[in-house]
Amino acid sequence: MSDIVLEAHDLKRHYEIRRSMFAGRASLKALDGISFTLKQGQTLAVVGESGCGKSTLARLVTMIEEPTAGHLTIAGTPINGPDAVKSQRRTVQMVFQDPYSSLNPRQKIGAILEEPLKINTAMTSDQRRAAAHAMMDRVGLRPEYYERYPHMFSGGQRQRIAIARALMLNPAIVVLDEPVSALDVSIQAQVLNLLADLQDEFNLAYLFISHDLSVVRHVADQIMVMYLGVPVEKGGRDDIFDSPRHPYTRALLSATPKADPFAAREHIRLTGELPSPIDPPGGCPFHPRCPLADQRCGETFPQTETVAPGHQVACHRWRD
Ligand SMILES: Nc1ncnc2c1ncn2[C@@H]1O[C@H](COP(=O)(O)OP(=O)(O)O)[C@@H](O)[C@H]1O
Ligand SMILES: [Mg+2]
Repeated sequence: MSDIVLEAHDLKRHYEIRRSMFAGRASLKALDGISFTLKQGQTLAVVGESGCGKSTLARLVTMIEEPTAGHLTIAGTPINGPDAVKSQRRTVQMVFQDPYSSLNPRQKIGAILEEPLKINTAMTSDQRRAAAHAMMDRVGLRPEYYERYPHMFSGGQRQRIAIARALMLNPAIVVLDEPVSALDVSIQAQVLNLLADLQDEFNLAYLFISHDLSVVRHVADQIMVMYLGVPVEKGGRDDIFDSPRHPYTRALLSATPKADPFAAREHIRLTGELPSPIDPPGGCPFHPRCPLADQRCGETFPQTETVAPGHQVACHRWRD
């Protein structure tokens, strides 16, 4: 059996929206063709600025929303209808960015952790309680927290609770949407370390979403850089950090204080705003902000080319 637990093939998610009261409808291409695979026990980091489609991707992978086109295969099952969704719901769990709003303030920690078991398993209340305590211990929450409410905890502890909840049903895949972005820098490393330990222990596959390359540096095996709903560069962690090819990746790295200064070829400053995905620029979507853009870049969408085994880039000028 292959150890690929998640396969996304040319996923698209378009939203029909109204431009204004009087203008007609338009299609917002939040995701416009994303393919990747994720292996058991590995982390694929998805990186890009706010608005590039990361959370939309998370909603597709967790089957909260259906793609407009393309398909997903989860644990070998093609997700092609409600039965397939139902059969794989437990396989994929999610941890959200904001631990303050993702936990029900009226539920005690014990109840929060046991709820997925109550809904999805035939476990007795004693068994559920034991499972909750075991998981609390595993994520570094003291046993007496079982009786406490979320508001009694700091952001870091709440994120531990959210992670514990995500693991209660033994998922193969955890989608982490900016899991440490709301936390103090001093707490981020603790939560990242916990995630790494849990990954080893449970052989979890992570889809780790972040707008910040420095956060994914120590957790990612593979990195996919996205821009306006499309991947612009994909590769192993070292490919992206040591030999980034896409000017957008290089710009993100230049903006990353912790990136290795010797690895940066040159500083590329990111100027201007992310264009609207309703009227994306023609040609390469990055060309209006790209210091290397030439005429071709404004005219044709770049094909994805292989730089090295496992390292791909969609840029007309990656050799320059
Ligand atoms: N339900 C929706 N309806 C319309 N537009 C949406 C919806 N969800 C997301 N978008 C738009 O899709 C784009 C990508 O959003 P999102 O996936 O949240 O990006 P990110 O998580 O990278 O910040 C944005 O332009 C956003 O406004
Ligand atoms: Mg988001």
